[in-house]
Amino acid sequence: MKGIVLYCSQTGFTERYAQWIAKELGFDCAPAGKQKAAALSLYDAVVFGSWVRAGSLVNAAQFARLLLRLPGKKAAVFGVGARPADAVSLAVVEKAFPKERFPSLGRFYFPGGMCYEKMGGLSRKMLQTYAKMLKKQKEPTEETRKILEFLGTSFDCTNREALRPLFDFLKG
Ligand SMILES: Cc1cc2nc3c(=O)[nH]c(=O)nc-3n(C[C@H](O)[C@H](O)[C@H](O)COP(=O)(O)O)c2cc1C
Repeated sequence: MKGIVLYCSQTGFTERYAQWIAKELGFDCAPAGKQKAAALSLYDAVVFGSWVRAGSLVNAAQFARLLLRLPGKKAAVFGVGARPADAVSLAVVEKAFPKERFPSLGRFYFPGGMCYEKMGGLSRKMLQTYAKMLKKQKEPTEETRKILEFLGTSFDCTNREALRPLFDFLKG
């Protein structure tokens, strides 16, 4: 099977997952951006991965438009964020690629991390502002507590084994 993994990554976690996928399946791997539907139609499978920013998948709309021009293509998308892999995290991917519009698409979420050393200044500022806002909550919810836990320190939760369901989907 000839395939390609396209990714958007600011600090490297999504890129790492993209490279793991490409290596395991012998797929090409490239930053998402200039690819055209005509070029992607030459592949049997297309995978798109991006990182989560403020509850949305970065550049997902761009890839969704491309996908609509590739009807019937075996395709999967994955999100990578600082939150753990749970239903809330997966919902971000499902929101960007709704089942009604993309019925046969595989949707996945993999745990990333935080890398303040590689992050741009604007991202750091956004996170500081967000943390300040959350800390003002008088009665923080469980979700607020989870988010505050991952704000402020660098960590790495990437895990190659998390890719198993995506491999099964693509090979199946
Ligand atoms: C401005 C900003 C907002 C973020 N918002 C979220 C979020 O809503 N949910 C989440 O799980 N992670 C969030 N993150 C964390 C990133 O998704 C996480 O660091 C991810 O692993 C980055 O992937 P990358 O290394 O490929 O850029 C945010 C990070 C930044 C910089």
